[in-house]
Amino acid sequence: MGICGTCKVMKTAGEVEMEHNGGITDEDVAEGYILSCCSVPKGDVAIDY
Ligand code: FES
Repeated sequence: MGICGTCKVMKTAGEVEMEHNGGITDEDVAEGYILSCCSVPKGDVAIDY
């Protein structure tokens, strides 16, 4: 549901549509992190975890 932040991963390529509920900060998003539980890939995506 995008609340706890447990699933936070670094996205290294591609774009996602993310609808979270406060589980990630704007600063994290700016650095490239996403919450994998509530992100839908728009195409090919690469992550580090
Ligand atoms: S924010 Fe809790 S599992 Fe993704």
